[in-house]
Amino acid sequence: MRTIRLTVNGKAVTAAVEPRTHLADFLRETQLLNGTHLGCEQGVCGACTLLIDGAPARSCITYALACEGAEITTIEGLDDDEVTRELRAAFSREHGLQCGYCTPGMLVTARDIVTRLPEADERRVRLELSGNLCRCTGYVGIVRAVCAVLDARRRNGVAPEPARRPLGPVGSGHAQPISSTELRGSTTVAPSTVVAPTDEPTGPTTGTAAARSGPGTVLRQSFTVDHPRERVFAFFGQLDEVVACMPGAALTEAPRNGHLRGRLRIKLGPIAADFTGEAEIERDPASHRGVIRGRGRDSRTSSTAIGEVSYVLVEERAGAATRVDIEVDYALRGALAQFSRSGIVNDLAERLTTAFARNVEARLSGGADSWNEAAAPRPELDAGSLILSVLRTRIRRFLDRLLGR
Ligand code: FES
Ligand code: FES
Repeated sequence: MRTIRLTVNGKAVTAAVEPRTHLADFLRETQLLNGTHLGCEQGVCGACTLLIDGAPARSCITYALACEGAEITTIEGLDDDEVTRELRAAFSREHGLQCGYCTPGMLVTARDIVTRLPEADERRVRLELSGNLCRCTGYVGIVRAVCAVLDARRRNGVAPEPARRPLGPVGSGHAQPISSTELRGSTTVAPSTVVAPTDEPTGPTTGTAAARSGPGTVLRQSFTVDHPRERVFAFFGQLDEVVACMPGAALTEAPRNGHLRGRLRIKLGPIAADFTGEAEIERDPASHRGVIRGRGRDSRTSSTAIGEVSYVLVEERAGAATRVDIEVDYALRGALAQFSRSGIVNDLAERLTTAFARNVEARLSGGADSWNEAAAPRPELDAGSLILSVLRTRIRRFLDRLLGR
């Protein structure tokens, strides 16, 4: 736990928080400010938008710790704000809301448009509002409401607010860095679930155990291959072979003295990340364990990743098969960090492990992995469809709850 001091709706607040606590959770759970809504929890829908030092920000992907010394304004803190009052009246008049779930975030963004862009026309209003999703009203009434407030203020000659810093990464900039020890200390995981031993060889099987989001996210995965432990351990020592089994990964230099350089390509919808980095490897033949410590950077999205992958090989089926238990402990920073919410990370890790297990099994059996290198270049890891499937599942669950199914 770390202590933070910040101002929330004009009041000084001091509180102890876990480094992984998001600002929205902090405000809703410890300050009981439930006007900040959570929709996607991935920085996409805008329901959680509030003001940090006067700038709109997604509180679901902002760590509370990053707001040390900041002034936070939630929708509750805008009760007496003149612009928000005008917007509230216009939203009611123009039918700019139905269920109201998106409304707090819409109002915060709309207030920003009115104060920052007093000359905005309808096209600009639509563009600026495009980061806030409404699932029931449609946008006609909302856009009409914002335009009505802008028109009224122009007619009345209301002076625009003084310029403020441009939109960009949020956080007060006063926060202390978080040490890696703290990150690790903040992470506790549920006991690992592993694939149950079977009597029949079934090819590689995988299982997911636990996933946590936030800095120091820990994932545990297991899979079983139908080969003896010594053979699997020897295979894991051939780094070029192991890297070749990982979707999107490639070596950029031949490994030397337990050190490797490589790259990992990931596609997340419109974002294509190309991480380059390096890693050190340690292996212990006595315990059949290994650990890989690596770090990488994607210059296109300015995202960085640091992580540790450890594995242990366990004999199964009287030595005929080997279970590989993997633990990944990583922190992702930058634009891609918004995708580190547990649902997506869990599914992504499961998909990765399944592909990796299949390819390890294929190579151990003397075949090629599932990509035909001669026919086509190795594909990057496309997580975009995965994110959509996670969102689809959440919407389906929400509708099921709503309709009592
Ligand atoms: S809940 Fe934060 S953007 Fe959707
Ligand atoms: S009014 Fe229901 S989500 Fe926008």
